Amino acid sequence: MFDHRVYNFAAGPAAMPEEVLKIAQAEMLNYKGTGMSVMEMSHRSAAFENIINETKNDLKTLMNIPDDYEIMFVQGGGSTQFAMIPLNLMTKYKRAFFLKTGQWAKKAISEAKIYGEAEVVASSEEAVFTYIPQTTRADYKGDADYAYICYNNTIYGTHFTPGKLPDVDVPLVTDISSCILGEKIDVTKFGLLFAGAQKNLGPAGVTVVIMKKDLIGNAMDITPTMLNYKTHADNNSMYNTPPTYGIYMLGLVLKWVASQGGVDALEAVNRKKAALLYECLDNSKLFKGTVVPEDRSLMNVPFVCPTDELNNKFIAEATEAGLMELKGHRTVGGMRASIYNATPYEGVQTLVNFMEDFEKKNI
Ligand SMILES: Cc1ncc(COP(=O)(O)O)c(C=O)c1O
Repeated sequence: MFDHRVYNFAAGPAAMPEEVLKIAQAEMLNYKGTGMSVMEMSHRSAAFENIINETKNDLKTLMNIPDDYEIMFVQGGGSTQFAMIPLNLMTKYKRAFFLKTGQWAKKAISEAKIYGEAEVVASSEEAVFTYIPQTTRADYKGDADYAYICYNNTIYGTHFTPGKLPDVDVPLVTDISSCILGEKIDVTKFGLLFAGAQKNLGPAGVTVVIMKKDLIGNAMDITPTMLNYKTHADNNSMYNTPPTYGIYMLGLVLKWVASQGGVDALEAVNRKKAALLYECLDNSKLFKGTVVPEDRSLMNVPFVCPTDELNNKFIAEATEAGLMELKGHRTVGGMRASIYNATPYEGVQTLVNFMEDFEKKNI
């Protein structure tokens, strides 16, 4: 039990900026003189329409999204995108390229196989996904409707750098669930980008889709209405009742991101945070990072001690000290610190101090 807020290193749902939570708290009972909570408000009301339009515009500005892209807020999480993408895009050749870089890429591949051919061009599975494979243009053989990558692999702690993006002529599709707004991403390189909100954008329940307008409108005949991007694009994401409170919270987070100086400023802080933690791992005789240095994520940092006993001891003692949710994914073992935008530099510094102290006592 804590009588103060802790440092939360969860992979998602994850830490939110305290300023955002306080604004939500202040506006909870009476949103801007409407006399009601956003939770209680019709999605057809002028007040909510303002919220959704402002949220879209703020995202467009923060990510430099060009006018020929549609921004949609949908439900069903990243996992529903694994089906929506093939249903809407795997329509001409019924075939797409995939880079298998982790569990979330694997899930996208399995789902795509229901609708067509999912061609795995490269994989790092043989090395427990500890690196991002480098591919060349020649690796992408034959016709395909699109190429798919998971930009930041939440579980394994790897991310794509621009030089490793597939060099293809077909639209590039990417899952940016765990890195959106954490680092600069050139939207124009992609035909479709999506992100579940529960890491860098707000609470779970809303999924952001950014899609080139000319890719919309070719869905397979079997596509359910709600899984057709055109449905959401044509109705300003309000074909049915959208996740209103989630969109409001996303809007508050975007205003917070802008107040921090935007994505460039946050990326600079994220680079410093990640460097501090990776330097600690590189200098340690007890802890070891699991990812090759050139592909290390800025957002998710997995690391291990030499034995499970030490891993468990570290997690237990860290939890007692208010450093929460450091247990790694079962396929990697050990620990994982997720250090999204809302984790301040001091949070990472506190973790590093704790690790150094733990090492002194346990080596
Ligand atoms: C990169 C990535 N993609 C997709 C998902 C699945 O998202 P959801 O649980 O919203 O379906 C996750 C969940 O952690 C993720 O990290």
